[in-house]
Amino acid sequence: MTQSAAVEDRWRRTLQLALGFAMGLPLFALAIGVYLSRAIGGPLALLGEGAARIGAGDLRTRIDLQGQDELSVLAARFNAMAAALEQHQERLVRSEKLASLGRVAAGVAHEINNPLQVILGYLSLHRGRVEGELGQHLARVEGEAVRCRDIVEAMLQLSRPSPTTPPEPVDLRQLSQEVVEAVRAVMPEAPEVRVAGAGDALGSAARYRQVLFNLVKNAAEAAGPAGRVDVAVECDREVARVVVSDTGPGIPPDLRARVFEPFFTTKSTGTGLGLALARAIAQAHGGDVELEDAGAGTRFCLRAPRGLGGVWT
Ligand SMILES: Nc1ncnc2c1ncn2[C@@H]1O[C@H](COP(=O)(O)OP(=O)(O)O)[C@@H](O)[C@H]1O
Ligand SMILES: [Mg+2]
Repeated sequence: MTQSAAVEDRWRRTLQLALGFAMGLPLFALAIGVYLSRAIGGPLALLGEGAARIGAGDLRTRIDLQGQDELSVLAARFNAMAAALEQHQERLVRSEKLASLGRVAAGVAHEINNPLQVILGYLSLHRGRVEGELGQHLARVEGEAVRCRDIVEAMLQLSRPSPTTPPEPVDLRQLSQEVVEAVRAVMPEAPEVRVAGAGDALGSAARYRQVLFNLVKNAAEAAGPAGRVDVAVECDREVARVVVSDTGPGIPPDLRARVFEPFFTTKSTGTGLGLALARAIAQAHGGDVELEDAGAGTRFCLRAPRGLGGVWT
């Protein structure tokens, strides 16, 4: 090959290489663009849509991104934030509902309590003296008047669940035993109730008594005379728990979310205020009342802080 042919050959190759580059580069850039838009653009769009939905008020929004990369970790954090916001909003709505219920209750209680006391006073004066059918009717009237008084009282307490006395150590085992006796006193047909374990909390004994009374009474009513109720007290360093379980029919899945709503009841003579009040009191102490999963029957748990929490901090 002559020298000029060699130069021409090199020149042609260089030209081919340059052409290859010029055509390949956009393709390469396109491939990178597609990769980036799949790997980053898609998840970013999902995150953006999620943020927009949350911004529009839909706090149930969750982002479905599985994986170990940074964007999936960001999505998991986003979901945790959305769940926390949702819980926070539920609490706010609940406390706002309770506060407005309380304002109504205070007015109603004021107007109703005085005539109710007069009715109850006259009834107790005359009931012992009247026999036969009239006596039975008076007993029935008294029972219903007492029920009205209890409803008004429970509504008032629901609006003011915080204790008014200084915090004291509360022996939850002893309190549970007292509560079981109190439930037996108002329920002659109460089932067998066993108390086990030990633990103490810091709070108001009178308020915790109300919580446990409502839980044990519900459990005894559900279990029926032939059933059984177990009250188990336990505690770790920071929290005491009282678990009340029964052998009753359990709570249907579609009602589980509603049992803490004020006035939700499935009983013909229920007020539907017991669990709402129990939860409001426990939360005012920095604890809670929760419905737990039970294989059969029902299990409620009172969580009570062992140190100062809730209203005292
Ligand atoms: N241990 C239980 N077993 C089955 N259902 C229960 C139990 N405890 C509560 N419930 C359900 O929750 C509802 C609300 O309870 P509560 O607030 O105490 O009101 P009430 O006892 O007046 O109905 C009850 O009517 C019942 O349907
Ligand atoms: Mg009840």
